[in-house]
Amino acid sequence: MLTNTICFINQKGGCGKSSSCFHLGGHFAKLGLRVLLIDADPQGSLSQGLFGSTAIEGLRARESLAAIFDEDEIASPNLLVLPTQFERLSVIRANAQLAKHNTPEPEKAGMKQFALASFLENVPGFDLILIDCPPNLYLCSWNAMLASNFVVIPVPPEDFATQGLRTVHQAIEQAMPLQPALKLLGHLIIRSDMRLLVHRTYEEQLRRLHGEAVFSTVVPEASAFKVAISCRKPVSHYAPNSKAASVIAALGNEMLHRMSLLDAQRRIA
Ligand SMILES: Nc1ncnc2c1ncn2[C@@H]1O[C@H](COP(=O)(O)OP(=O)(O)O)[C@@H](O)[C@H]1O
Ligand SMILES: [Mg+2]
Repeated sequence: MLTNTICFINQKGGCGKSSSCFHLGGHFAKLGLRVLLIDADPQGSLSQGLFGSTAIEGLRARESLAAIFDEDEIASPNLLVLPTQFERLSVIRANAQLAKHNTPEPEKAGMKQFALASFLENVPGFDLILIDCPPNLYLCSWNAMLASNFVVIPVPPEDFATQGLRTVHQAIEQAMPLQPALKLLGHLIIRSDMRLLVHRTYEEQLRRLHGEAVFSTVVPEASAFKVAISCRKPVSHYAPNSKAASVIAALGNEMLHRMSLLDAQRRIA
């Protein structure tokens, strides 16, 4: 059976994909789950959040996700899956070496579309896998969707970005025939400032358009998230009693609840 695997997708940058993976990964690990974070973005933000930029920039292809796409490398789970300083939290790192593999028109990439899904078949021992995607819908995001059974779309309420969301939905629908287990876990409203009328309006519109597909938990714009990352710790570990940590915990609970409901529906179907 597929380990519950969630990819975080949006073709926009700066919408909190990496931040969500980082903080949720810490939270779920603290909760007792064995969590694998996968950095599928050539920008390597998630990896840098854990280990700093110097350590990540110098990685060789065989130590990073690039290895799974590179015919000259042997993609070995022993080399790629690295424990972090946090109990039960491991990571597959990425850096700029991945960029040349992140090609457009991913549906024409032959077997490379399934590189991540095939690799993960040989990576046992995790309860949950979170995949951080780049700000485009090229081969890395496509691989992430074909290796996942759930997708989360982080959406900041900055502008009425339904146009952008439509493209994301189309990509998910295109991926579904190739990965029938894939389901939308939810739209995540993130970086919200409830003092701003525009943010409140955008949230209302999203909920009207997408109903229950929008998580009830909203992740606010809060410096604690940034500060924790700059200290290389998920907020669950950096400031466990903070408001920010409790929001991530609420979101984590909502995600687990939705996953168990969708899993049950899948079993009945
Ligand atoms: N809820 C939040 N509150 C404050 N800053 C945030 C929040 N979410 C993300 N950020 C910050 O915004 C920037 C962009 O977020 P990031 O997760 O890197 O976006 P993406 O991965 O979608 O490009 C980062 O500096 C990150 O720390
Ligand atoms: Mg990112």
